[in-house]
Amino acid sequence: MKLRQSTTIAQVTMKPKLLLSVFALLPMTTLEASSLSVADDEVLRAGLMPRPAHVRVGDDTFQLGSNTRVIGTGAAAAEAAKLAEALSIVLGRPIPVSIGPADKGDIELVLVQGDSSTSSEGYQLSIDRNGVRIRAATPAGLFYGGITLRQLVWPGVRDLVGVADTRGKGVFIRAMEITDTPRFSWRGLLVDPARHFLPFDFLKKMVDLMALHKLNTLQIHLTDDQGWRFEVKKYPRLTEIGSRRAESPKRGAPNTGDGVPYGPFFYTQAEMRELVDYARARHVTIVPEIEMPGHFLAALAAYPEFSCTGGPFHVHTRWGVHSDILCAGNEAAVGFARDVLGEVIEVFPSEFIHIGGDEAPRERWKACPKCQARIQKEGLKNEAQLQTWFNGQIEQFLASRGRRLIGWDEILEGGLTPGAAVMSWRGIRGGIAAAEAGHDVVMSPTSHCYLDYAQGKGPLEPESIGGFIPLAKVYSFEPVPSELPAEKHRHVLGVQGNLWGEFMWSPQDVEYFAFPRAVALAEVAWSPVQSRNYSEFIGRLDRHLKRLEGLNVNYRKLDQYDRSGEIQ
Ligand code: ACM
Ligand code: ZN
Repeated sequence: MKLRQSTTIAQVTMKPKLLLSVFALLPMTTLEASSLSVADDEVLRAGLMPRPAHVRVGDDTFQLGSNTRVIGTGAAAAEAAKLAEALSIVLGRPIPVSIGPADKGDIELVLVQGDSSTSSEGYQLSIDRNGVRIRAATPAGLFYGGITLRQLVWPGVRDLVGVADTRGKGVFIRAMEITDTPRFSWRGLLVDPARHFLPFDFLKKMVDLMALHKLNTLQIHLTDDQGWRFEVKKYPRLTEIGSRRAESPKRGAPNTGDGVPYGPFFYTQAEMRELVDYARARHVTIVPEIEMPGHFLAALAAYPEFSCTGGPFHVHTRWGVHSDILCAGNEAAVGFARDVLGEVIEVFPSEFIHIGGDEAPRERWKACPKCQARIQKEGLKNEAQLQTWFNGQIEQFLASRGRRLIGWDEILEGGLTPGAAVMSWRGIRGGIAAAEAGHDVVMSPTSHCYLDYAQGKGPLEPESIGGFIPLAKVYSFEPVPSELPAEKHRHVLGVQGNLWGEFMWSPQDVEYFAFPRAVALAEVAWSPVQSRNYSEFIGRLDRHLKRLEGLNVNYRKLDQYDRSGEIQ
């Protein structure tokens, strides 16, 4: 591989802070500009997903032979062990791990010291005839370099396209140098076990699949009108009563009941701790979502005293929004919300705690003497401001424990509390308004990011909540709105795809709705915007889907419509 030193850093779209953190420390080595099309070809042949920011390809090859080890010392050792295990699984033979020193033919992970930034998830992956080296400023960067390497040697893909082959001597990988870093720090998916419970092991599978695509935030919608899925030790009836429902909407006829009792289904705190650890090892953050004050009926079925009317209630047996919500005028109800979140915080170490906040009808508050007294006492103008007041109570509680509140964009309606972050779902307007006011936002609009919407128009498409968001539409999403002033762009933390569970009865259904659209979303979240090219993406996706096949993912097959790139 003919490399020459270069002082130029090619145009990369990323936050300037991140650009400096990895690249300033790593001497850039580049090939002649004329080899760039070779690089494009190589990215395509390998089906790298999401597309790395920069790839340069050399002439020779690296042989991942029987002597190859993965080397990592100090803080890099844990990542080296994970990569060795992952490569062993991909290659079907053990790849040893060692603390070094690295020999010819080894794969070495190097944590670059002296970098003051810990936020960067970027990496540099250098492959030449003598070995492989992954350099990064953080363990996450090493991990993502390892993900890219894993994709380069993936057998089903390798055999298909000849990126490398076994030829009886090991795996051959084209010499190349990849410098890569994510565009956004929040690269998320949401799953919804409240509507249809998802087995614990499936959550782990989702974490694995997210890590493969360099997605890093899994929001779990743990509570809703139709079910409470998180064990709270102080309030055992939340799961004793709230995790069951008398029946569910019937498949194919959601306005009638199926007559089948559902539950009890919930996750214990021990399970959630295990998931948090599992996800942490894959650089995925679990963000718990506990809905309040609306979408709260399962909690009120268990503890009706925290409603405005006193109940009684039962866990909702139909989809849709319920009118009975938490009584914000009742100090005990606000205390209940704090107590629940207190236990949530003990289990989930995420910076952000999602409190929902969407679709909270305010008619009960209008008729409730306690809520009206609260409005009077606090000098609030209306019920929207009462929700803001309630959010403020919760935000202060979270802040006292070092956490941040995030909620759906309805939390803007009565005015945002000072530290709140917004997840913009009813389009991008809420996200723009919040970012303009200096709040952090995650873009997750129904127009592009609702992965529970239909993704095809054919007669064989499964029942869904409606809508139409084909693969190309997801791929076309631009999370930073053009009307947002440049100095506010940093408030757009990233993007999230939502897999609401009403019409997903099983893990296989979730996989069908998620893939391949989550792959497109991963590229939106990770790759430089200038490199986005749908037809080129489809070429890589054809290769990448072999990987998903190998992982037993029930993805939706591409049809002519997907290949055409039409989005209407
Ligand atoms: C939502 O879809 N109600 C956030
Ligand atoms: Zn009330």
